[in-house]
Amino acid sequence: MKNIILTGIKPTGTPHIGNYFGAIKPALELVNNENNICYFFIADYHALTTVETREELKAHTLEVASTWLACGLDPNKVVFYKQSDIKETFELSTILTNVTPKGLMNRAHAYKAKCEQNSISQTDIDDGVNMGLYNYPILMAADILLFNTNLVPVGLDQKQHIEIARDICTYFNNKFKKCLTMPDGLITENVATILGLDGRKMSKSYNNIIPLFCTENELKKIIMRIVTDSSLPSEPKGTDNTIFNLYKLFATKEQTEAFKQKLARGIGWGEAKNDLFELINSYIKPMREKYNYYMTNPQIVNNILQDGANKARQISKETIKRVRTAIGVE
Ligand code: ADP
Ligand code: TRP
Repeated sequence: MKNIILTGIKPTGTPHIGNYFGAIKPALELVNNENNICYFFIADYHALTTVETREELKAHTLEVASTWLACGLDPNKVVFYKQSDIKETFELSTILTNVTPKGLMNRAHAYKAKCEQNSISQTDIDDGVNMGLYNYPILMAADILLFNTNLVPVGLDQKQHIEIARDICTYFNNKFKKCLTMPDGLITENVATILGLDGRKMSKSYNNIIPLFCTENELKKIIMRIVTDSSLPSEPKGTDNTIFNLYKLFATKEQTEAFKQKLARGIGWGEAKNDLFELINSYIKPMREKYNYYMTNPQIVNNILQDGANKARQISKETIKRVRTAIGVE
C-alpha cells in the first residue's frame, strides 16, 4: 500500500530559513521514498484570513511556488497545485461544516488566541475575527480529506488542526457512509526551532527572519545584524549562540567541528558572521539562481501549477462524487 502524503503552505510572506529547515526540506525528503505519493499545495484561500491586498497574495503565491521549485520539488514526482484551483475543496468544506460542532471551532487555537487577546484589551470578544479564521480548521480538513490522505507532515503548531480534521472525518463517517480516509499527522517535533536574528524563534511575525532568497549583499547585511554578546574577539566562545546554531544547519559534520574549535580558540563575532555568510551563501547560491529564474518566468510556474491542478482534480472529483452520493446529492 502506498502512503498518500499531503501538505500545504500559506502564501503569507517571503519564505525564510526557518520555513526551509522546518517544513520545505523535510517534506521534500519524503518525495524520494517510492512508497509515497505526494501532494504539496499552496494554501492561498487560507492566506486570505490575513493577506490584505491582491498584489500581496499574487506576489507571495509566486514566491512560495518558486521557492518549492528552487528547493528541488520535481513536478513530475509531486502533485503540486494551488488550493484555489481545486473547486471540490470548497464544496467539501461546505458539506463538512454541517457535521462540525461549533464548540470544536471555539476551541481552535488561532480563534481562541484572538478572543483571549480581545478579552485582555477589553474589546468585543470577536473583534477582528472573520469567518475565514473561524472556519479555518474546516477548510484545512477539506484539503486533507479530499485526497484520501494518510499522512500530513506539519510542524507542531499544526497538531491541533490535524486532530480537528480527524474528528471531522469521524463525524462524517459516522453520520453518512464511511467514505473518508482517516489522516494521521506526521509531526516534525524533532526539527529544532530555528532561531532568528534576535535569538527568538525565526518568524515573519517577529520581523527577525533571514529570507531564504535575497541578493548576496542583502544576505550579508542581514547576517551582520544578528545579535551577539559583547565578548572580546580574543575570548573563547561556546556553541550556545545564534551564529553557531545557524552554521550547524548548513554545515557538514567536519565543518561544524572546525567552526566549533575556531570559536573556542576565540575569534571576533564579525569574523564568525563572515564565515556564516560564506557558508549560507554557497549553500543557497544554486537554489537562488533557480528561484530567480522562476520569479522572472511566472508563466512557467503557472503552467506547472495548472498541470498539477489537472492531476489533483482526477482524485478530488472522485472523492466529491463519493461524498455527494453518501449525503444524497447526485
Ligand atoms: P512564520 O512563523 O514565519 O509565519 P509559518 O507559520 O508560515 O511561518 O510556517 C510555515 C512552516 O514553516 C510551518 O510548517 C512551520 O512549522 C515552519 N517554520 C516556521 N518557522 C520556523 C522556525 N523558526 N523553525 C522551524 N520551523 C519553522
Ligand atoms: N494551516 C497550515 C499552516 O498554517 C497550512 C495548511 C492549509 C495545511 N491546509 C493544509 C497544512 C493541509 C497541511 C495540510 O501552516
